[in-house]
Amino acid sequence: MSEVVDVDGRRVVLVTGASRGIGAETGRALGVGGDHVIINYREKLKRAQAVADSITQAGGTASVAGADISDEVAANGLITEVAEEFGRVDVLVLNASGGLELGAEPDYPMKINRDAQLRLVQLALPLMPSGSRIVFVTSHQAHFHGRKPVPAEYAPIAESKRAGEDALRNMIPQLSDHGITLTVVSGDMIDGTIIVRLLERRNSDAVEARRDQGPLPTVEEFARAVADATRSNDATGHTVYVGGLDYLATITP
Ligand SMILES: NC(=O)c1ccc[n+]([C@@H]2O[C@H](COP(=O)([O-])OP(=O)(O)OC[C@H]3O[C@@H](n4cnc5c(N)ncnc54)[C@H](OP(=O)(O)O)[C@@H]3O)[C@@H](O)[C@H]2O)c1
Repeated sequence: MSEVVDVDGRRVVLVTGASRGIGAETGRALGVGGDHVIINYREKLKRAQAVADSITQAGGTASVAGADISDEVAANGLITEVAEEFGRVDVLVLNASGGLELGAEPDYPMKINRDAQLRLVQLALPLMPSGSRIVFVTSHQAHFHGRKPVPAEYAPIAESKRAGEDALRNMIPQLSDHGITLTVVSGDMIDGTIIVRLLERRNSDAVEARRDQGPLPTVEEFARAVADATRSNDATGHTVYVGGLDYLATITP
């Protein structure tokens, strides 16, 4: 077994899917803010290492940990590695998501967006001390699934991410028994992300319809909200909304 790394009083934060996009920016915000950030990635080690290096260069500390979290063995391996190196997880940011990948099997959205999220929480639970936090990152199109129409190509992702959110919310009593809180951060389409750039090419009307409601939040704004959620005192189960005022009008008090 490797020696436990001394993180010098920093929170140990595991961010899934942090080699690019929102996860990478969230990792940077947390690392620069004084946390030790574990940058999880699926296959892009170089990108993940560049994110970790940018944190180190800014005076923070970070490490990388590769694992396809939709794979049970890999997810087990990830948590074992974290346990051996750090002995604990103070914050788990559930950011990795999927389903739009070319050639993805029809059952992949549920595997990654629901089953993998639940499994990772169950695996990490023994490492999370009382006072730890879990932040689930989602989209308005998923969070409001069933209440607002979604573009056809995004429907399986919206449905499975909502199923993942519901399954995590069902765990709140168990999490509370351990003194762990869950916060959901939901965002409108986020400007500058690969997914929105792809959608702009394939279904520009869907993106235009969102822009008609006002400027889309940026990656930096959304990542800041995710990072802030790891330190907020909101009650467990709270949802933070970023952008998309028209969606919020559908919330019944
Ligand atoms: N984009 C938006 O407009 C938007 C809006 C609202 C909410 N969100 C939410 O924000 C989160 C991040 O979105 P994004 O657009 O930044 O994503 P993205 O650019 O597609 O980044 C995906 C990240 O997840 C990793 N990843 C993918 N599958 C994985 C797996 N099976 N196991 C481990 N890591 C995996 C990738 O690693 P590799 O690079 O190694 O493959 C990459 O680091 C998602 O939960 C999404 O639903 C996005």
